[in-house]
Amino acid sequence: MEMSIRPRRLRKGELLRKMVRETRVDESSLIYPMFVKEGTNQKEEIPTMPGQYRYTVDRVSEQLDALLDAGVTSVMLFGIPDHKDEVGSSAWAEDGIIQKALRAIKREYADQLYVITDVCMCEYTSHGHCGMLCGCEVDNDKSLELLSRTALSHIQAGADMVAPSDMMDGRVRAIRTTLDANGYETAPIMSYAVKYASAFYGPFRDAAGSAPSFGDRRGYQMDYHNSREGIKEALLDVEEGADIIMVKPAMSYLDVVAKVKEAIHLPVAAYSVSGEYAMIKAGAALGYIDEEKIICETAVAAYRAGVDLYLTYYAPEIAKFIKEGRIG
Ligand code: PBG
Repeated sequence: MEMSIRPRRLRKGELLRKMVRETRVDESSLIYPMFVKEGTNQKEEIPTMPGQYRYTVDRVSEQLDALLDAGVTSVMLFGIPDHKDEVGSSAWAEDGIIQKALRAIKREYADQLYVITDVCMCEYTSHGHCGMLCGCEVDNDKSLELLSRTALSHIQAGADMVAPSDMMDGRVRAIRTTLDANGYETAPIMSYAVKYASAFYGPFRDAAGSAPSFGDRRGYQMDYHNSREGIKEALLDVEEGADIIMVKPAMSYLDVVAKVKEAIHLPVAAYSVSGEYAMIKAGAALGYIDEEKIICETAVAAYRAGVDLYLTYYAPEIAKFIKEGRIG
């Protein structure tokens, strides 16, 4: 007879299985990414992300109310401007799409919703790169000033937190310095610190019209062959003043999440990106996989790897499954 306590004994019965779970999921850690566009009275489905929409500011509350009903209390906003130019000037414009959306959302929801904004240039530049160009290359240092200006304008318009996703070197320090100098010492920064050059962003680029018009982003996003480099990026951003460190994408990068979690002592977020959502949607639409079970399994996997915060287009569904006791 075997003497050790066998895990099999802990698998008998639903109550005990739940008691001994290692991983707990809580809806307060979910962040729902949302696209806001110029215009009025539109809710436009994104063809490569069925079930996800681009909203005009006057209709965002439809989605926000549904999120709050489900128990999701945080969103990440992405702007789709009408006007693009070489330097992405509508990213920091007083009447830019994000700035307008922030004012409207904060007027209606105040502190009921925690609003984070993505800070990047690619949705606003005519060439679709994440910074300002010098010839055919992104000019890292010149882009820092534009990114800082954009982050400041978001905070001034009411953002609770900014999340730079551009991957320029030194942008966390630049943004921190600008926010502090303007009296926003308490505004937190969630850094997309460990962001890989990934084909999983494909549907997002359709959604936001932000695909680069030439070249790719491998000059500033990470090579997916490397994970130690991810630790280095994370540590650098901690040093520069980031408050939360994000790894992106999520599903194929959970090894990196686990390593980053070991290496730093700040909250770790992971972003389950558009391509992850699209794959599950497409597989489910074809009847190849069970969408609900896959949503539960992929979400729990991210938390098991160590995420404290989880950005996902499935946030309302996950919140519902937690409430129903299917996960949690
Ligand atoms: C902007 C940005 C991207 C995503 C978030 N912020 C696209 C990119 O880097 O090309 C992707 C999100 C998703 O795929 O859901 N730089």
